[in-house]
Amino acid sequence: MTAPAARLEVRGITVRFAGLTALDDVSFTVEPGTVHALIGPNGAGKSTCFNVLSGVYRAASGSVAYGGREITGMPPHAVTGLGIARTFQNIVLTAGTVADNLMLGRHRLTRAGFAATALRLPGAVREQRRHRARAAEIAGFLGLEAHFDQPVGALPYGVRKRVELARALCAEPGLLLLDEPVAGMNPAERLETADTIAAIRAALGISVLLVEHDMGMVMRLADTVTVLDFGRRIADGTPEAVQQDPAVLRAYLGQEEAA
Ligand SMILES: Nc1ncnc2c1ncn2[C@@H]1O[C@H](COP(=O)(O)OP(=O)(O)O)[C@@H](O)[C@H]1O
Ligand SMILES: [Mg+2]
Repeated sequence: MTAPAARLEVRGITVRFAGLTALDDVSFTVEPGTVHALIGPNGAGKSTCFNVLSGVYRAASGSVAYGGREITGMPPHAVTGLGIARTFQNIVLTAGTVADNLMLGRHRLTRAGFAATALRLPGAVREQRRHRARAAEIAGFLGLEAHFDQPVGALPYGVRKRVELARALCAEPGLLLLDEPVAGMNPAERLETADTIAAIRAALGISVLLVEHDMGMVMRLADTVTVLDFGRRIADGTPEAVQQDPAVLRAYLGQEEAA
């Protein structure tokens, strides 16, 4: 049921906020089935880029194509419908249990209408049961089986971050957009999440676009890295090449000096 991974082509994206150019003519390509990292100092434009890719912000110019289809200007639900799912930098979970949140993640795949589900018509009940089984399977894949029927509000931060990841996976995406998936986690949780992301890619063959601050994580996971600084692309290549790029070193050093 997973949407096949397709190539994501970002071409010359520019985004402005009242006088500030958050993204300036940024281009990169995420090849199908790869892990591509988008990195850069705070304020570089990484989250803005995600918001363009997922249909939340509209770019002033440039284009984004997924599997050859132009997605620029599409509303978020239409982008999700093409098989692109995302997590947010800040956790956005609704009240209710882990299962409730994962079932919301399956919304795009639900065929029975709201009324049929509410009236518990036999077809809709069968479909709900099937979706719940798949949601439980995905929860298990992320080590959440023990939490499946627990309210998300009561769970520790690291576990809630994993619920977000599980919810995105429940849409069976071909491309998963992860905005700082290990932010706020302790070192053990970070390693565990890195292993999980590697396992997701290996098991499902999907592409992952990862916004990340943790360099160790990027070096461990990414096939390709795009580096942004002040809204501009300053480097693009393998993790090894990018790590040694003078412009990248300058951008990260500048940030340390400012801190
Ligand atoms: N909705 C917004 N309105 C105004 N400025 C914004 C908005 N979103 C982001 N910015 C600005 O755009 C720049 C890039 O921000 P962001 O994409 O969040 O960076 P990053 O995720 O790399 O830290 C920053 O200067 C930020 O303050
Ligand atoms: Mg950000």
